[in-house]
Amino acid sequence: MTKDDVAEVIKTHGTERTNLLPVLQDVAATHRFLTEEDLVRVARAFKISAAEVYSVASFYSLLETQPRGRFVIRVCRTISCSMSGKGNILTKLKEILGIDLGETTPDKRFSLLETNCMGWCAEGPSMLINDTVYSHLTPEKVVEIIKEYRER
Ligand code: FES
Repeated sequence: MTKDDVAEVIKTHGTERTNLLPVLQDVAATHRFLTEEDLVRVARAFKISAAEVYSVASFYSLLETQPRGRFVIRVCRTISCSMSGKGNILTKLKEILGIDLGETTPDKRFSLLETNCMGWCAEGPSMLINDTVYSHLTPEKVVEIIKEYRER
């Protein structure tokens, strides 16, 4: 995002401390991650330290501070999903993508991450691919879902 784009987002929301998260979400929406320059620009506008902005950004697992693949897979790591088979889902994803947690495929198509509870606990194990939720997952279902994303 350019300096002017960031300024426009900040102008839309204002610089009240309570607007920091919406500003970061909108700034991140362009490239799906926040650059160091973005964090510094936001910090200057809010008159707070870049470290404080970074700590807010890094607290929320949906706000990325580094580039990811085109499709970001976030597997829920919280207790209900863990008890309903999240481990098998993660193992299958690692196997078919050929990457470990926190990594991105060499073609930059998929990144594999974990996230905290997304509110779909009763339907776990669950995962997000970008903004789409997938629940009641099985290893077989995961293979089909990834196959579909490979064709996009
Ligand atoms: S525990 Fe996984 S969605 Fe809530």
